[in-house]
Amino acid sequence: TGHFTFDPGYTSTGSTESAITYIDGNQGTLLYRGYPIEQLAEKSSFLEVSYLLLNGELPSKAEFAEFEEKITRHTMLHEQMVKFFEGFRRDAHPMAIICGAVGAMSAFYHDSTDITDPKQRVIASHRLIAKMPTIAAWAYKYSVGQPFIYPRNDLGFAANFLRMCFAVPAEEYVVSPTMARAMDRIFTLHADHEQNASTSTVRLAGSSHANPFACIASGVASLWGPAHGGANEACLNMLREIGSVDRIPEFIARAKDKNDPFRLMGFGHRVYKNFDPRAKVMQQTAHEVLSELGVENNPTLQVAQELERIALEDDYFIEKKLYPNVDFYSGIILDAIGFPTSMFTAIFAMARTVGWISQWKEMIDDPKQKIGRPRQLYTGATTRDYTDISDR
Ligand code: CMC
Repeated sequence: TGHFTFDPGYTSTGSTESAITYIDGNQGTLLYRGYPIEQLAEKSSFLEVSYLLLNGELPSKAEFAEFEEKITRHTMLHEQMVKFFEGFRRDAHPMAIICGAVGAMSAFYHDSTDITDPKQRVIASHRLIAKMPTIAAWAYKYSVGQPFIYPRNDLGFAANFLRMCFAVPAEEYVVSPTMARAMDRIFTLHADHEQNASTSTVRLAGSSHANPFACIASGVASLWGPAHGGANEACLNMLREIGSVDRIPEFIARAKDKNDPFRLMGFGHRVYKNFDPRAKVMQQTAHEVLSELGVENNPTLQVAQELERIALEDDYFIEKKLYPNVDFYSGIILDAIGFPTSMFTAIFAMARTVGWISQWKEMIDDPKQKIGRPRQLYTGATTRDYTDISDR
């Protein structure tokens, strides 16, 4: 009933107004609140970018200090959540634990589930941004059988996360500034990307006025798939499977073969029909990190660069406008820092939490907000009469 447009995969449907992130896919432009991603990646920090995405403007010194204090105050998890982690199998995927733990926050922070109170909406945002690194790090610690490391609020956002992942009680852990900088840049590059699948999922969940923790858990679930945030894990696994430069043509041929489901992971994008600007910064960061670590001859980086070069010259990829995306180089950096591939998407989820919660807040703050309710093109049976089971 009523007119509707049929648009599977929402290739041409605008679902919302938003003042947060702008993408021009043909130019390869990405702006957070008007600021080019390249400038933010080089000059800003993830925490400052978080403030910007949430509030619309870059903070003054005093505003930043207050924000930093609020975020660090919320880094600890309710102690009872330790038991929640311990209920999982040791070989659980970190994304499975994160999905559960974030959803479970609804049961630990009841005050912030009241979405009608604007103050609580802000507190929920701070809690999510602050606690996600602790949740992600603990998911990792649990998988390797090491004790949980509690957050340290005198460290920066990225340094604290690295410490929670890699420190052990038996010895002093010194955070490498190179690693912390690279980590922070990865967070910044992943912080928001307008109405992608996971963000739209968060908005759709939130449109029914579900609590913010439940909404972010739905975003984590949507991000997990290999066509979306799971691509970074799939990409590094692919680069390792290719293994050496001489095997690249075989994989390029497979990616082009319509009878083979294989796709080049980390390539192609629904919106970018040009270079993903995040991939460029990521490639440069990969070089910086590997050279500072003295491992420039990293074979995976060599395969990645050669694969990129060959694909960009190949008619198939040119015709379909397939370029490397954000996930193409991020895995190489995360691997160099010491993360297993299973943590890659978890790190993406941690960073994207800022975008998700900013978009959720923008939606709930909007007095015109309505429940999201797509329609369908019905292809099932027409009306028919029920037959008793004895007659079937
Ligand atoms: N390798 C080989 N062929 C591809 C690839 C690829 N990576 N990506 C798209 N194509 C082909 C596809 O087969 C199709 O060909 P045809 O028109 O002949 O049927 C054409 O290009 C258009 O692809 P599509 O799947 O219709 O495009 P889409 O906008 O629905 O999908 C995508 C976008 C990102 C899901 C897709 O490019 C893909 O699967 N890429 C690999 C996974 C990946 O790297 N995902 C990360 C995206 S960026 C970060 C994020 O979102 O989290």
